[in-house]
Amino acid sequence: MNPNQPLFKVFVTRRIPEVGLKRIEPYAQIEVWEDELPPPKDILLEKVRGIDGLLCLLTDPIDAAVMDAAGPSLKVISQYAVGYDNIDISSATRRGIPVGNTPGVLTDATADLAWALLMAAARRIVEADRYTRAGKWKTWGPQTLLGASVAGATIGIVGFGRIGQAMAKRARGFDMRILYHDLRPNPQAAAETGAQFTSLDLLLAKSDFVTIHTWLSEESHHLFNDETLRKMKPTAILINTARGQIVDPDALYRALKNGVIAYAALDVTEPEPIPMDSPLLQLENLIIVPHIGSASVASRSRMAEMAAENLIAGLKGEELPNCINPQVYSRPKARP
Ligand code: DGY
Repeated sequence: MNPNQPLFKVFVTRRIPEVGLKRIEPYAQIEVWEDELPPPKDILLEKVRGIDGLLCLLTDPIDAAVMDAAGPSLKVISQYAVGYDNIDISSATRRGIPVGNTPGVLTDATADLAWALLMAAARRIVEADRYTRAGKWKTWGPQTLLGASVAGATIGIVGFGRIGQAMAKRARGFDMRILYHDLRPNPQAAAETGAQFTSLDLLLAKSDFVTIHTWLSEESHHLFNDETLRKMKPTAILINTARGQIVDPDALYRALKNGVIAYAALDVTEPEPIPMDSPLLQLENLIIVPHIGSASVASRSRMAEMAAENLIAGLKGEELPNCINPQVYSRPKARP
């Protein structure tokens, strides 16, 4: 064997920023899936055969079949994202495979985007742009494109982790009343940001803006449905930059169409991408952008570096700097 040949084989499911790939190069032979679209499942199953490390994206369903196809050589799964609902973590844990993610480095980028959506929905920026381009701007209109006030309004933050707290900091700068709901109150973060813990029902009833920052789980799946949307103010604006499946799209359509709530702005949808025949796309009072929360140059580069660091640690048999399932280190490896 050529001693200069890297020992490990790695499959990367899309071209991530070069800075990440460069880090991996000294350690592994890298195969990158160069398509714009994710590898189809049958190709993924083929590509992972015999690899030592998998660097994947939230668009890749990494289930037991993928792990089995990779076989016993698979030492690490490194996700290029903070969310990991596309990965069957218990299957990985059962096989003793550590799974890494990229927390922290996309907090501000995602909160910035959520804030941009909040402002854009409140002041109807996207509608106003369409109006101008359509040649409808004839004069200064006393009642043209009136929107909602942000300063001094009440914001309800559902999920008070890193990104939820970053939203609270932004809201503070706008003199907003800040409510939050999570499984448990976080008094320290609440004191730092001036946020107040409430039940979900109270948050929905009181907030002018409701912004979602919770993980996708069985409990949060379709948390926003006909019943919960009806608990919001008819003037309220809903922002989702977390996961599409937290909001029932049919219920959201009914709520926006029938004036149950006033407006929504989504960075994430169910499914993704949103089908072009979705009735949601017919609504004027809805903004949709294509899951770009973390899409700043700096954030995506840091994510690539972190994903590479997790991957390399896993290849070397070291503990991942950011490991989702650290239990793998405290239990004997049992491969099926
Ligand atoms: C994540 O990291 O989970 C975002 O959805 C994409 O960056």
